[in-house]
Amino acid sequence: MDDLLNLIEPARSIIAARISLVPRIALILGSGWSELADNLDNPVVVPYTDIPGFPPTTVVGHRGELVIGVLAGQPVAVMRGRFHFYEGHSMQQVTFPVRVLRALGCTTLLATNAAGGLHADWSVGDLMLITDHIFLPGLAGHHPLRGPNDERMGPRFPAMVGAYDRELMRLACAAADDLGILLREGVYLMLSGPAFESSAELRMCRLLGADAVGMSTVPEIVVARHMGMRCMGLSLITNLALADGPPANHQEVLDAGKSARPRVTALIRAILERMDRT
Ligand code: 6GU
Repeated sequence: MDDLLNLIEPARSIIAARISLVPRIALILGSGWSELADNLDNPVVVPYTDIPGFPPTTVVGHRGELVIGVLAGQPVAVMRGRFHFYEGHSMQQVTFPVRVLRALGCTTLLATNAAGGLHADWSVGDLMLITDHIFLPGLAGHHPLRGPNDERMGPRFPAMVGAYDRELMRLACAAADDLGILLREGVYLMLSGPAFESSAELRMCRLLGADAVGMSTVPEIVVARHMGMRCMGLSLITNLALADGPPANHQEVLDAGKSARPRVTALIRAILERMDRT
């Protein structure tokens, strides 16, 4: 990880050479959210394989490309597909794209994911605004900021209280309200995966105060906060993760994404429309 800035610059300049706008909002689209990238005006598509420093993608059902353009009037850089720790990438590799998007000009990060709901009275297809997180791998030492800190990028000890921007959360709630979409709120707990949790682990997640579990998002949020970006997170509840329920499987995660498409698209659009033009 020696001189991260030297790794970021080649990636930034390859992307910058292909685009004519400066993206201000970075969107990471997880399972169930990726159709949104089809809705950009004047899209420029950059496959991850063209970007030096981006690791190869390995998950079926996750495409790997950056789409830059305009969505709901906002200049955005959309990651269609993300990198997961469970694929074998380091936390630094998983979060490298966020560093590059910040270098390109993005000052806001809107991260989405598929998550397992921990409440028996929630439904598959529900949307959850992430109000806070529990970074289980990070607390256990798998942390993207572990190692030397480059002060040009951010502080040694960044705060994570208030990581999810209050104003953006207010905006998201207002947008959901107007659309008549139920938007739940809760704490997202990241575990490394790739195995789904045991019953005892799901009880542990509840005890820790989590409302949903997943295998992504938190590393990117932490690195975005390190660089001072405004952050928001949204989870699509693709299955219920209950200690006494049926075991989770990847297919139901993908299926729930399909049926939620119209709602996730409408919600993101409405949120972007409400954001200041930057
Ligand atoms: Cl990490 N766990 C469970 N049980 N369900 C999920 C999930 C995780 N991610 C999406 N759905």
